[in-house]
Amino acid sequence: MNEKNRPILEVKGLKTHFTTTRGVSKAVDGIDFTLHKGETLGIVGESGCGKSMTSLSILRLIPSPPGKIAGGSVLFKGKDLVTMSETDMRKIRGNEISMIFQEPMTSLNPVIPVGEQIAEALRMHQNMGKKDAWGKSVEMLKLVGIPSPEKRAKQEPFQLSGGMRQRVMIAMALACTPEVLIADEPTTALDVTIQAQILELIKELQTKIGMGVIMITHDLGVVAETCDKVAVMYAGNIVEHASTEQIFADPKHPYTQGLLNSLPNIYEDQDELATIDGTIPSPYNLPPGCHFASRCPYRQEICTTHHPDLIEQNDGARVRCWKYTNQWIGNTESEEVM
Ligand SMILES: Nc1ncnc2c1ncn2[C@@H]1O[C@H](COP(=O)(O)OP(=O)(O)O)[C@@H](O)[C@H]1O
Ligand SMILES: [Mg+2]
Repeated sequence: MNEKNRPILEVKGLKTHFTTTRGVSKAVDGIDFTLHKGETLGIVGESGCGKSMTSLSILRLIPSPPGKIAGGSVLFKGKDLVTMSETDMRKIRGNEISMIFQEPMTSLNPVIPVGEQIAEALRMHQNMGKKDAWGKSVEMLKLVGIPSPEKRAKQEPFQLSGGMRQRVMIAMALACTPEVLIADEPTTALDVTIQAQILELIKELQTKIGMGVIMITHDLGVVAETCDKVAVMYAGNIVEHASTEQIFADPKHPYTQGLLNSLPNIYEDQDELATIDGTIPSPYNLPPGCHFASRCPYRQEICTTHHPDLIEQNDGARVRCWKYTNQWIGNTESEEVM
């Protein structure tokens, strides 16, 4: 089989729910996507739509309880991570699939020198000896652009600036040359120059290693620069999935259109995407119809009563919107007659 055509990661119908005193939060409610070798998939959407929970679910790192993978599968080279033993999962996590967390301190131990932390991962996953692991660790710090890496390697995270900590985490994520890198808002906390450097570095390593990247971001400028294809998330669903080109040239879902329209300049740094009127529905109380219906300028009755499927269009883009079906009043002659 042609390696290029076989996805390394296939997420099918993934659901992650949280059961709390407030009820059941459907943070991730049926997500499907694939990732191929060397490919970059962008996941975009406003705060709280389930981006981080999707990525944490892939690595089975959701806080449990209250979280639980409530359905679906995550096939990594054909093996389902959802049902895999924790022992096997540990061999994959941080090794074959790595993650750059939204907050660097999530993955760094505050009291261990950063070089040792990277070396430890290399000893554990790559069976390296102490000396080799330390050498590779320093090399990785150098690769992510940390000056005086020998000296920095011996320092603890708190002795480094936020930007440097972020780079240490990236060095750690890339040290074991993962086949899949999940980067959750990897550059949000960084200034624009360092942001550009880090994205460049991820791209470079991607070309070298051929890793697949899932780039989670609220920044459509980052998407335009780094992603091959994009999944737009809204309230636990993917509402549009298309090539980056298609997303920018021909956005189909009204939410995607709203995101693009709300951009003053896609290359400008942004804190939030949520400039569309209204708010995202609570994952504890999702509406029966389309999750975006309450904010949608095109809403028809069916939108508030029935949840649309993600349907492939003629150009290959997939969209979850009644407007692109023949149930839409105005789309077919018979509907118009009625
Ligand atoms: N520990 C938790 N307990 C209950 N609900 C949670 C917890 N963590 C996340 N969630 C729910 O998951 C939803 C999606 O969160 P998240 O994936 O972090 O959003 P994003 O990364 O897109 O900003 C949130 O709206 C929240 O309701
Ligand atoms: Mg997040």
